[in-house]
Formats: sequence, C-alpha cells, structure tokens
Amino acid sequence: MARLLSSILRNNSLRCICRVPRRPLPRQCRPILQLEHARSIETTFRTTSDEDNRKLGSSSITKTLNFLDEKEEYTIEDPFEMFERSCMVLRDQPPKMTEFPMGQDVVLYGYIGKRKDLGSALSFCDFQDKDSKADFQIVSQWEDPDSRQYYAHKSLKAIPSYSPVMLMGTVQESQKKSTDPLVEAKGLEKVDIRIKYIRCLNTFPKDVVVSKDTVWPAKARHMQLRFDPFLRDRLIFRAWIKRQLIRILAARKFLEIETPVLFKSTPEGAREFLVPTRKKGYAYALPQSPQQYKQTLMAGGILKYYQFAKCFRDEDHRADRQPEFTQLDLEMGFVTGREVMNLVTVLVTSLFVQLHQSWRIVEINGVRHPVRIAPEDHASERKRAKRWVKPLTDPGELINRFPRPQPITILKYADAMKRYGSDKPDLRIDFPWATWIYRMGQRGKGLPSQFTRMISRLPDPVVEAFRFRLDAPHNPDVSRQFIKNFMDSLPNSTLNIGPENTPGVFVYDSAKPLNGLSALGFDGVELLDSMQEKWPKCIDGDILIFHARKDAPLHGGWTEIGKIRTALYWTAVNEGLIPKNNNFHVLWVHGFPLFSPTGDDPGQGGKAGICSTHHPFTAPLNDQDFKNLKTEPLHVKADHYDLVINGVEIGGGSRRIHIAEVQEYVLRDILKMTDEGISQFSHLLDALRAGCPPHAGFAFGFDRLISVLLDVPSVRDVIAFPKTNKGEDLLVGSPAKVTPEQMKTYHIFGEADKIPEDEIEA
Ligand code: AMO
Repeated sequence: MARLLSSILRNNSLRCICRVPRRPLPRQCRPILQLEHARSIETTFRTTSDEDNRKLGSSSITKTLNFLDEKEEYTIEDPFEMFERSCMVLRDQPPKMTEFPMGQDVVLYGYIGKRKDLGSALSFCDFQDKDSKADFQIVSQWEDPDSRQYYAHKSLKAIPSYSPVMLMGTVQESQKKSTDPLVEAKGLEKVDIRIKYIRCLNTFPKDVVVSKDTVWPAKARHMQLRFDPFLRDRLIFRAWIKRQLIRILAARKFLEIETPVLFKSTPEGAREFLVPTRKKGYAYALPQSPQQYKQTLMAGGILKYYQFAKCFRDEDHRADRQPEFTQLDLEMGFVTGREVMNLVTVLVTSLFVQLHQSWRIVEINGVRHPVRIAPEDHASERKRAKRWVKPLTDPGELINRFPRPQPITILKYADAMKRYGSDKPDLRIDFPWATWIYRMGQRGKGLPSQFTRMISRLPDPVVEAFRFRLDAPHNPDVSRQFIKNFMDSLPNSTLNIGPENTPGVFVYDSAKPLNGLSALGFDGVELLDSMQEKWPKCIDGDILIFHARKDAPLHGGWTEIGKIRTALYWTAVNEGLIPKNNNFHVLWVHGFPLFSPTGDDPGQGGKAGICSTHHPFTAPLNDQDFKNLKTEPLHVKADHYDLVINGVEIGGGSRRIHIAEVQEYVLRDILKMTDEGISQFSHLLDALRAGCPPHAGFAFGFDRLISVLLDVPSVRDVIAFPKTNKGEDLLVGSPAKVTPEQMKTYHIFGEADKIPEDEIEA
C-alpha cells in the first residue's frame, strides 16, 4: 500500500519537477524518494538537461558498479544462480541513454553477437542493445591481468554468442558509419564500447548455427523473430499503423468495444470453428467476424463502434488468408453506406499522409523496406506534422518517402468485372502495358463465327479481348517467345482456365500478312479497325488476347480473361519485361450483386440455390432492388462496398437491413432458410425489433492492409505467429491431438461415433 501510494505521489511530483528543471525536489517528495531510491535517480535523470544527464548517468553507473563484484569472471554457472543474479542486475537499471559521447560510462542490456578474437588480449563483438539506440560494438582489451578489463575479457570469452547480457563500459569511439545497410538506413551511429564488466543473463545454445542466410523453420519462429530484422521491423510497422488508426478513430469519438470470442454457430456465410464444451451436445463457435455483435451494439445505442477483432474462418488456405486473422471492425448508426465509405476514405487518406511523413522506403538487396524517419513520441510527431505543412526541400528525401496513393477511384462491380475481369482490380495494370478488356462487337455482329468456334465450344458466347504490351524494344520475336512460355505454363498454373474456352493469342507483326492477325479473318480485322477509339493503335510486338465466356450476368471475383490479364502482367514484371509500379492505387468497388449462386462455401444453407454475396444482413441498394428481391434475386444489387488496394480486397462493408421483418423476409422467403436456420439469428432479429436505427459498417482485413503496404507476398509475413498452409502453428504444435480424457470430458465423437452394428457389417 505504501509503495502504491508513494508511486502515485512520485508520479505527481514528477510533473512538478519537469516544469522546474535543476531545482531541488519539493520537500514533501523526499521521503518518497527514499522509499524507492534507485527509481528516484532515474526520474531525476529524465527531467534534467543533456549535460546533467551525462553527469548523473555516470554517477548512477558508478553506483551500479559498486554493488557488483568488479573482478568477477563468468563461468557457466548454475541456472538457479543465474536466474537470481539476473533479477538483481535488472532491478536497479540506470537511466536510458540517448547519446553516446566519447568517454561516457554506459550500462547496456541486450544481446552479444559473434565474437572475433584478435589475439589473447583483444576481442570484438557485435552487441544489439535492447532499445536499438545505436549500432554497438564491444571492444574487449586488457593490459593488466589484475584489471577489471581482464576479468571482463575472460567473461566475454566464456559467454556463448547471441546470449542476453548486461554490460558496463566506456564509449571509446562513436559516429562511425555502419556497414550494415539496414542499420545505415536507420541512421544509427556506430558506437564502440570498451567493456569493464559483462554478465550473462541466460545462455544461447552453442549448437544453433546463426548466419544472415539461415532460414528458420516455422517451428523456430522465435529464432526468426530474433534474427530477422526485417520481420521485426514489419511488426513495428504494423503496431505503428494500428496506433495511427486508433488515434484517428478516437479523435472522431469512436468507442472501442471488445466483443466475445466464444460465440455461437450461425449460418453467416463462412465455415466456422467449433469449441466443444463440457455440456453434452453444446459448443461455442468462434466468430467469423464480430458482425452480429456490432449490429447489436447499434440496437443498444452505441452508435460509433470499432475494435481490432480476431476473426476465425475455416477456409482453404491462400497467401492472403489465415484461419485466424485480425480485422479493424467498425460500425455507425444513423448513417448510409456512403457515409461509412467517406469515413473509411478519410481513414485511408490520413493514414497515407502519416505514412508519407513518417516513413521512407529503402531498397536492401532488392527488397523494399520501410524505415522510420523520425522518433516515435507523440509530441514530436505533432511538431513534425506542423513543420511538414511546408513543402519539403530535399527532392532526394521526397522521392524515397512512402508513396502517397493516387486519387481514390470508385467503380461499380459490373464495370470492374467488364473492364478488368476482376472485382478487385489492380489499377497498376494499366495503359500502356494492358488496355481494358473490350467486348468484341454485339450479338450477331461480332467476330467471324469461324474464329469464335476456334476459341470456344459455347453457343453464341461473349468474346472479349485486351491488348498487352511489353516494354521497348517492341520486338515481335521477344513477344512471341514470352507469350509462348506463358501459354505453355498455363495447364500447370493456378489460373484454372475453363476447358471449353482457349485463349486466342496474336502477336502484332507488320512484317506478316494482315499484321499477324490472319486467323481473325478480314472481317475480324475490320471489326478491330472499327473500334479504333476504344482499341488503341497496335504497334509491333503487341500481344492480343481473345477469350470467350457465357453470355450471362457476372458473379464472383474473376472472369477468365481477367485472370489471364493479371497473370500476364505479373509474369512480365517478374521477367523484367515491364517495370514494376510501386505506387498505391486505392479503389472502391460497390454495387455488388446481393446474392450469388451457391458455390463451395456453406452460405446460409437455404434452399433457393443462392447465398449472400457479402452476408445476409446486407441491404439491397435501392427501392427497385428491394422490389426485385422476389422476382429476380440474382439481378438485385447490394449496398455493399469493398476497398481494394493494388488488387487486394483490403476491406468490405455494407448498409444493413435494420428492420426485423425485412431481415426475416430475406432469410425465409428469398434465401429459403429453414425455421431452424432462422432461429439461429433470433438474438439479432430481437435486437433489430427493439427499435434499432439504420446502420452501416465496414471491416478492414488488418493483416492484408499491412501486407499490401509492405508489398510482401503473404499475410504470414506480417503476423508474429502465423499458421501454415495446413492451418497449423508448428511452433506450439496446434491443432493438437485430443486425448481420450478430453474426448470424454468434451463429449467429442460421443454419440455420433457409435456406428450402428448393421452399418459396420455393410
Ligand atoms: P468480409 O468478410 O468482407 O466482411 O471481411 C472483411 C475483410 O477481412 C479480410 N479477410 C481476411 N483476411 C485474412 N484471412 C482471411 N481468411 C480473411 N477473410 C477476410 C479481407 C476482407 O475484406 N463483417 C463483415 C464486414 C462488414 O460488413 O462490416 C466482414 O467480415 O480483407
């Protein structure tokens, strides 16, 4: 109690000290300082000038030195003793230093690296300080065998490389340039510390080989976290983004609310994970998103909600998916979908402005990596923000800044699918490399049927085409080789092109009859010519791709020609045949179909053969769509919007059905769900019935957002403990086998496991 009181008082008294630096402490604080002597030194230190810092730092270090045995040689000691001494060494830490002038005594905590011995009396060793304040190197040298340096040297040699240590020493040299490109990019000065004392706090195993090229298996994620500075920086970046988003939302009076993780099974759309309980026949389900709770919050009058929520979906694994992932989830009451889109636009724009001000991109061994420009604390950030109202003068610095996004585009789902063949188009795939996808003529007036029959077995299909161009020198031979390799790899690729439609491929070559387009016939070439204002003039080496599809309303995420267009672009970029565009293109796609034909996902389990494209709580776009629900459900558009950055769906949201009767009508009469299915949503229907206001919301896939901003291939690269492709966490070994005892306790396979005798025989 006395300690608690003294700590409260001490914190308060500190505020007084801050305002009157270098003045004696108020009398009422002195007894408190006596209670917590070591900490009082630290706090006084923080409130004084740099010069005083140095003096005080030195005196407190001398104090620290005094209680340690100066001439102590480290030997591999009893782990219990090491444990006790570690606590002692950590308890009275001297203040943190921010500068390292020559001759300064320092106490540092961190990891030693690999030691280099230059004779018996001189060794060097890298040292990674816990606060990453500088790029340290330990210099250990002795002349007198009875000196402190001699014992420190002996100790250093006995401590295994990469062990955590506490060390004391004197700054011997500073402000040298580091040879490590990442350290150099971070602007850390290189500081040599001549050690006087070193203490091992735990030992690193001697049989583990650590090198820059070591690839750590998933089971050793802790090693990767420790030795991969890029991964660590990505996690720092992620935490920074999270803080920015929270700040923006808090400034707009959004309330952070945590919702339960033990939820119940409902047919919201995705396959769930069940959590068995000790109550026979009962299970929780992990939430696929906090959707139903956040709508309940709206019914509860909490009208501006957000949270960073863990979501769980039992889906097929892909690079941009994890069974357990994080959403920045939000919801607002008394708003339309447009207002939510506006809020998200502000969030994303502010985030990019902050990124542009605070981070730059460095390229290290071909990898683009973010480096923080300025220190983290809020006060200096605000000052910087003010300073940067003025334009930056150093053009070099500006070029390296984190890129700002291009103006945000808004696109209807139908247009996105027709122009780009994707509901999440990557707008970097653009002119002059790839044109939009064009429909080749109208029904009856299209390409010659002879050509159409060559590329498709479908009766009366829609034929679409785009033009693709490689970077100079526009040589038809280079294009022919490139496209041949691409087409040869198609059967083995993940493109999944339907067997009834083969892409028709041409290379424009003015040296050939009909410029290499003979297979189109005169009529086909004439049709292309007649589309001149849409179809830009071709030059030698241009690649033309034609593809046929069924003449039916578009659903889902891709058309086949859209997949080819995207794959072609990335193949060319990866082969260095067109330059990579590192900008960010942010895009809203809206007006999705409210329902899609039932596919592989469980959907809502209704009997209508359709399921909700987003989720079953999404409202139809307008009055006409509402009226068409019964007659033409597959033509109804939804007030559903997705945010796309560089071809990745970063988030999605919608306006909700806020009237219980309408919600029930959609579930029962349109999706044709059973009473039992509908009753699983009874809590939500009750909440809507209790005067729930109109509301709309959105959720960012937070892992995806970070992975796109950092341009890494998978969300796994931005998650501290990701799951593998099989949904396993190899570090901890999850999922783990259930023991017979647990099976009994949780009634797993209890009744269902009992296969009737007659079935066994059959
Ligand atoms: P939706 O299902 O579109 O909407 O999810 C929102 C965003 O979450 C991300 N995401 C994933 N990220 C990693 N791994 C996954 N398995 C995964 N699944 C989805 C995507 C996606 O855009 N409740 C609604 C939101 C709302 O309507 O307010 C929802 O969850 O980036």
